[in-house]
Amino acid sequence: GAEVVINGSSSPAVVDRSNESIKHNIQPASSKWRHNQTLSLRIRYCWVGKGQLAPQGLSLRMKQILKFLDAEKDISVLKGTLKPGDIIHYIFDRDSTMNVSQNLYELLPRTSPLKNKHFGTCAIVGNSGVLLNSGCGQEIDAHSFVIRCNLAPVQEYARDVGLKTDLVTMNPSVIQRAFEDLVNATWREKLLQRLHSLNGSILWIPAFMARGGKERVEWVNELILKHHVNVRTAYPSLRLLHAVRGYWLTNKVHIKRPTTGLLMYTLATRFCNQIYLYGFWPFPLDQNQNPVKYHYYDSLKYGYTSQASPHTMPLEFKALKSLHEQGALKLTVGQCD
Ligand code: CTP
Repeated sequence: GAEVVINGSSSPAVVDRSNESIKHNIQPASSKWRHNQTLSLRIRYCWVGKGQLAPQGLSLRMKQILKFLDAEKDISVLKGTLKPGDIIHYIFDRDSTMNVSQNLYELLPRTSPLKNKHFGTCAIVGNSGVLLNSGCGQEIDAHSFVIRCNLAPVQEYARDVGLKTDLVTMNPSVIQRAFEDLVNATWREKLLQRLHSLNGSILWIPAFMARGGKERVEWVNELILKHHVNVRTAYPSLRLLHAVRGYWLTNKVHIKRPTTGLLMYTLATRFCNQIYLYGFWPFPLDQNQNPVKYHYYDSLKYGYTSQASPHTMPLEFKALKSLHEQGALKLTVGQCD
């Protein structure tokens, strides 16, 4: 049967510093993995929880669930729906507001970048160090749509992570973490080079999530306009987060703040037939007990955000692993063939 069973415990662990990875062995071996088409379709069109059978027609409940998430709409706010000067309450800081600037308004897409888009196979590339020495670059680049996170570098790591990028996310915090808050011309140039290299792909900026990113989003918007950078900017809808949270809650997975990677997977279930995840491994040891870097490209350490981090990556991983075992997605956490 194609019943979806995803049970996560609501463990408060932020990142796992123990030997948890032993428990997370990906079975069956990747060569035995088969895509479960029925299940993928069921997830796309009518997400049903444990013990519930999908009825033939659309029940009221299913319609409600479908309302949770609409990739075409939720991927970005559109120009027609906002105007300069409009006030927006941040999703995580409801008491703080921002004004829609002229620059932001100019960069809002007129139509959804996902309008009428459907892909056979999609890759979602997380940023775990498990990608290093994976040799997955070619396999990743062979997918019809490739999603990457947080402007992670690709050139220097092409053999392991590939180059193709159809959509890349950019949390405003990346500007601080990876581009020194653009303190001088060198860093501005570095960011500009990275943006130019995107070459027409979608740059997805969560601008309305937290007030901390306010200035950084404005700097990036300004840079893009001033230098006529060829990217298709997208700013996720105000309801995306609630939709994704609700989507997982329906399956009893309680996720307070989904990570970028999980947001991307959840969105992709709407427009991708087969979904392949790479670089999702929130554990400091790999399946053979060798150390794994938190990111493949920098020296951030596990737990760098300490207990304050709102993410529960191991919990997310558990849910994704369960979907892998059922054939709804494929997780690659070792080398590619
Ligand atoms: N990821 C993972 N294991 C890691 C690092 C990252 O599974 N060791 C996944 C997570 O889903 C994460 C995504 O890869 O959202 C992108 O990684 P990163 O840029 O580190 O995201 P974070 O900044 O940690 O989280 P977010 O951007 O969601 O706040």
